[in-house]
Order: sequence, then structure tokens, then C-alpha cells
Amino acid sequence: MKRIIILGSTGSIGTQTLEVIEHLSDDWNVIGLTANTNIDLLEKQANKYKPEFLVVMDEYHAKKLKNRLADQAVEVLSGPAGLNYLAGQVESDLLINALVGAVGLAPTVAALEKGSRIGLANKETLVIGGQIIEKYLSNPLNKILPIDSEHNAVFQLLAGHKEKEIAKIILTASGGPFLNLEKDRLETVTVKEALNHPNWDMGGKITIDSATMMNKGLEVIEAHYLFKQPYDKIKVVIHPESIVHSMVEFIDSSIMAELGVADMRIPIQNILTYPERVSSLGKNLDLFTVGALNFEEPDFEKFPALGLAYTAGKEGGSLPVILNAANEVAVMGFLANKIRFTDITYIVEKVMDSYERKDNPLLEEIYMIDKEAREMAEGVMKECY
Ligand SMILES: NC(=O)c1ccc[n+]([C@@H]2O[C@H](COP(=O)([O-])OP(=O)(O)OC[C@H]3O[C@@H](n4cnc5c(N)ncnc54)[C@H](OP(=O)(O)O)[C@@H]3O)[C@@H](O)[C@H]2O)c1
Repeated sequence: MKRIIILGSTGSIGTQTLEVIEHLSDDWNVIGLTANTNIDLLEKQANKYKPEFLVVMDEYHAKKLKNRLADQAVEVLSGPAGLNYLAGQVESDLLINALVGAVGLAPTVAALEKGSRIGLANKETLVIGGQIIEKYLSNPLNKILPIDSEHNAVFQLLAGHKEKEIAKIILTASGGPFLNLEKDRLETVTVKEALNHPNWDMGGKITIDSATMMNKGLEVIEAHYLFKQPYDKIKVVIHPESIVHSMVEFIDSSIMAELGVADMRIPIQNILTYPERVSSLGKNLDLFTVGALNFEEPDFEKFPALGLAYTAGKEGGSLPVILNAANEVAVMGFLANKIRFTDITYIVEKVMDSYERKDNPLLEEIYMIDKEAREMAEGVMKECY
């Protein structure tokens, strides 16, 4: 049996990864699981999958979980050091990074330092640390397999092709819940409305990012590092049905697309069984029920987050770190009903404009920039109350 570690096992991607593992029955032995604070679910997962290691972010919850599982042979670790130990020191055949936010970078780096195969859902890893991560990929032991549905689609489409054959990567975007809402109405949309994604059921942060279209912007940066393409070759197309998960245009003018129902268990399984394919939990796509597939240009004026992400990606250096940090703070502020929906991109833009930039930040510098940009974003957010 192959050994698997899932960082963020209590989240949307984490729980779906465990569903896929159950579906694949005897193939995988779950070695390590982690949560931020949801120890009730982590305890249930520990009872079911009997991992060797658990990680909980704060000491208080870790102790509580340790007491509850006192009769089990499981080591309960805590904090970033626990995450890094699990990712960097414990042997696995595949590590799934399903953490949300910038916290995902350090364990990815720890895993790559020892040589690892990583199923990456945590897009923030590449957004803030892409320049660092790409250096590790020259080690043949290291492999990053994309779980994000768009990147998984491109990954599948590129099988057997060379990077020089790519003319364009076309990332599809549903456009989120506000695609057809008038721009002026965005100021007053509620958290509930923003969380109501038309096609995908996901964690809170990515759902808000989808509503602002920052999610697609982060994915543009992610695609740049995964597929080594310049930004002018990475395009975004609005496709409200979310049936085409992305496309690649090749230099001979052929466009290939990957289609399917919107179900993250399909790309997750694709990575777990790669390069083989076996039947999945996903439903088959019925093209007659779908009927029509629509495509339109993104509105950069209505959704400025997309343009901000292109700007940050093209400039590189510290700017994507600043963009991501400010966005995480602003999204949490919106989810806590402290600011308006439109304040999210206002805060991101203001912090991007104000924070001093740096080329090629080292890992420690990325954390420092992340911390300071968050503080700055908290300050700007107060102006919005
Ligand atoms: N959900 C999707 O369909 C989807 C699709 C494509 C890509 N992604 C990407 O996949 C990643 C995970 O998304 P998600 O929707 O699964 O997120 P989620 O449901 O919010 O789950 C996040 C996981 O990370 C843990 N976590 C949260 N904050 C943490 C912290 N500060 N330190 C350590 N652990 C922390 C959570 O623990 P608790 O449960 O204890 O809070 C949970 O296990 C994101 O980067 C997202 O953009 C998601």
C-alpha cells in the first residue's frame, strides 16, 4: 500500500480526498492528517483511518485531541513546526497540500527539500512562493501534480506534448455568483450571496475569491509557474457552465479542452491514480442535458481583482505576496461582515500601491512581507468600517 499525507484533511479538498481514498479502497495507507482547529472532525478521521501523525495548529486544541486519542498509537503534533515535520520528515508516496492560504508554502518547501511528490490544491503556495518552488523542481525526485480543476485539466491536456508546442493556455472561469449583476450593485451584496457559487461547492475563502474573480487571478499566477508560460500566453475566458475546465491552444491552431461535471473528486482522483485512470465517484457528463456551452470575455473593470493579479504576476518579486496577504485579510474581513464586498479589491490595491517592493525575496523575506502586508491591510480595512 502507498503512503499518503493530507495537509488540511478537514477542509473541502481534504474531505473529498478521503472520499476518493475510500473509493480506491486498498491502494492508500493514510499516514498523516491535519486541521487548523476542527478537532472534532480530525478525531473522527483519526478513528477511521488510524494515521501515525496528526497536526493541529494551536497547542490548546492539540492537547485536547491528544487526551481524546490517548488509547491510540498516534502522535499529535502542533503548529507550523508540526506541519513542517509531517511534510518534511515523514516518508510518503504522495503528499496532498489542501491547506488554505499562505500557510501552505512552508510545508511544500519542507516536502520538496526531502524530495517529494505533491498533489497541490493550495494555490497560494505558487502565488507567493513560485520563484522559490521552481528551483526545487530541477530535482527529479520532486514533482508537483495540480489538483485545482483548471490546472488539472491543462496538466491532462499537455500529456505527450512539449511546452514549446503551447500557443496559449485558456483558463475557464464561471464568473461566480455576480457575473450578471450590475456593477453598482456589488457594493451591497451580502456574504450569503457571495458564498452562493453557481457551480462549485468549496471552502469559504476560495468561494469569495471566485465572486471577486481574485481566484482566477491567483490561478493565472499558478499556471505561469506550473506550465512555465509567460503571462501573455495565459488567457481567462468566462464560461458560466463550468463544463470545460480549461483549454490549451497549440501552435498548429488546434485547441484541446477537458470537459466534465463540476466535481473536485475527479481531478483529485486523477492525481491519486496518475498516470492510470480508473472509474471515479463523479457522474458522467450528459451533453444533451447541458445543451449549450457559452464563452465570453472577462470584465476587468467590474472585477478589478483579475487585473491586479495579472499585474502582480507580471511584476513578480514581492508583489504577488503582497496581493495575496492583503486579499486573505480582506476576504476574512468581508466574511466577518466588517467590510463591503467592493472593499476587498480596494484594500488589495491600496496595499499593493503602498508597500515597498522587493525582487526575488528569500523564503524568510516572503514571510516577513506577508506579515507586514497583512498588518497594512488590517490598517486599510479599518478605514472601510
Ligand atoms: N474547495 C475546492 O473545491 C477547491 C478547488 C480548487 C482549489 N482549491 C484550493 O485548495 C485549497 C484548500 O481549499 P478548501 O476549499 O479545501 O479550504 P477549506 O475548506 O477552508 O479547508 C482548509 C483546510 O486547511 C486548514 N486550515 C485553515 N487555516 C489554516 C491555518 N492557518 N493553518 C493550518 N491549517 C489551516 C483547515 O482546517 P479547519 O478545518 O480546522 O479550519 C482545513 O483543513 C485552497 O488553496 C483553495 O484555493 C479548492
